[in-house]
Amino acid sequence: FREPCMQLMDKYGMSACECYYDSYAIYKGKKKLEGLPATYANTDDEVTSLEVYCKDPHNGLEITLQYSVFEKLDVITRSVKVKNGGADPIELRRLLSACVELDSKDYDMITLYGTWARERHVQRNPLHFGKQLVDSCRGATSHAHNNFIAIVDHKATEDYGDCYGFALCYSGSFVAGCEVNQYEKTRVFSGINPYDFSWHLDLGEEFQAPEVIMVFSASGIGTMSRTFHDVMRNNLTRGKWKDIRRPILINNWEATYFNFDTDKLLDIARESAKAGIEMLVMDDGWFGHRNDDKSSLGDWFVNEDKIKGGLKHLVDEVNKLGLKFGIWFEPEMISPDSELYKAHPDWCIHVPGREKSIARHQYVLDFSRKDVRDYIFNEMYKVLSVNKVDYLKWDFNRNLSEIGSAALPPERQKEVAHRFVLGTYEVMDRLTKAFPDMLLENCSGGGGRFDPGMLYYSPQIWTSDNTDPLERLSIQFGTSMCYPASTMGAHVSASKRAGYDTKANVALWGTFGYELDPNRFTEEESELIKAQVAEYHKYYDVIHYGELYRLISPFENEFRAAWMFVSQDKDEALVTSVVIKRPEDRGFTLRLKGLDPAKYYVDEDDGEIYSGALLMNAGICLDFNGEWDGDSFKKHFKAVK
Ligand code: DGJ
Repeated sequence: FREPCMQLMDKYGMSACECYYDSYAIYKGKKKLEGLPATYANTDDEVTSLEVYCKDPHNGLEITLQYSVFEKLDVITRSVKVKNGGADPIELRRLLSACVELDSKDYDMITLYGTWARERHVQRNPLHFGKQLVDSCRGATSHAHNNFIAIVDHKATEDYGDCYGFALCYSGSFVAGCEVNQYEKTRVFSGINPYDFSWHLDLGEEFQAPEVIMVFSASGIGTMSRTFHDVMRNNLTRGKWKDIRRPILINNWEATYFNFDTDKLLDIARESAKAGIEMLVMDDGWFGHRNDDKSSLGDWFVNEDKIKGGLKHLVDEVNKLGLKFGIWFEPEMISPDSELYKAHPDWCIHVPGREKSIARHQYVLDFSRKDVRDYIFNEMYKVLSVNKVDYLKWDFNRNLSEIGSAALPPERQKEVAHRFVLGTYEVMDRLTKAFPDMLLENCSGGGGRFDPGMLYYSPQIWTSDNTDPLERLSIQFGTSMCYPASTMGAHVSASKRAGYDTKANVALWGTFGYELDPNRFTEEESELIKAQVAEYHKYYDVIHYGELYRLISPFENEFRAAWMFVSQDKDEALVTSVVIKRPEDRGFTLRLKGLDPAKYYVDEDDGEIYSGALLMNAGICLDFNGEWDGDSFKKHFKAVK
């Protein structure tokens, strides 16, 4: 009678299903999920897994419930696999990844909603009788709702209360929510959106649902977030760049948009090198004849009118300046004016004979098809294998509509959206295996595909196209509900509001970089950038490996925001506060969190020494004059040895 997790249709058109327990297995470690991103165990001791095998004797369906327990982290992951072990094909109409029963209805649901340039704002509402959910039917996670939700005590705060967090390791259409029934019990569910989904299971075929990462905290929302941060940093992101220092990049997008050439890029690189910036990223517009967003996606050959002397020349020159080189691709897209579209008009997602909706002047390539994926992978390989590319920004600027594939039979058309996501994962997997030293950063019109699935392939994701430091506060606070600083692309730009000090203070809460033309700096600004680069290196460890404490949330306080990072050994802390709107009460007391009460800490600015207990219980008095919109400060504390 409630929201089901599995729904099928047999050859008689019936949906009845009886799953009986058959057997189980418990083992150390965790198996991979075939073709899907998922958390992993670094050592077998870290995780214990349980598989529960069930069978339906009538139709031969074999169901495996998959659980893994990360004991030290208060994390359980959950997934499910079904196999058609019977004599007739079965249509799988839905297969959600998790279903959790809570014994009351007295909770709030937290979700992250938004739109382009306003991603992942926090929404919190008390549960009511009936169903309440967030979802996407766009073929991608979307800017509108993230696939993370939390169910928390009504009174839960950052530091108090029971919190259950659910993050789906998936990058396509999803549903996440709960149902409160007439007996005041809550069922929480999360998985692939059943809307327009169906999977044809032939005899012997299997379907694997994505994984849900489930976190419990008995001490508030802050602990829940920190647990998500730990599991994502340690057990989800992978590869060389998981643990080594990421380069400070400068991206030419906001500096030039499509209007650039080799000289312009080298001018940017030259100035950047002087400031100590470590990598130049050439964004959209280097290929085909792309001078605006209307053309050439799919034609991944260098436009030598702009990149004069060729790509190798540009990369060599950038390298000579001491910078690494990064490049932009939008692999899953195709422009109607491209050579590729002329050669293969049926290679995009479409319903034959019907109008195709165009968005940002482009169509979506049919990544459910292996021939399409192979072609794109090979084109990318050609560029990446002959040039020394250290970083790739993988963009995705529209959602899927009129979802259909020219390569699949009618009974498999409702598989296209999920096959598309699997196809994207496959290309990302091939790419990261072919170029293990290359840093991959995901992006989707800013942060439209910021999800745990993508973090399995790219350890950082562009958080938002909104680089205004004050609006970024809400975006970064919201994103941090589930995602660690080390995954959040955050750049200093030439945006109007606030000075460069505040822009950097906000961007330090992420994978730091620049998105501007340094040739337009005043001398004073150039000096400031050098100092910021030095600060990035100084604070890297505490931000990337430390624990986040949200002190004042912009969702609760219209005047100020404040947050801090504390190193795992509690020997170092970095506190940042930003004035959003000039407060009436000049000066305020900020109570810190997460320190060791018994340790003594020195304030690096003035050499004053305070106990951790004092900093947390009495707080620091920040009685400084002239608190104007966009002002900010940082404070760095080190334990006295
Ligand atoms: C959207 C991204 O978020 C931007 O950073 C930029 O790469 C543009 N796409 C390029 O088209």
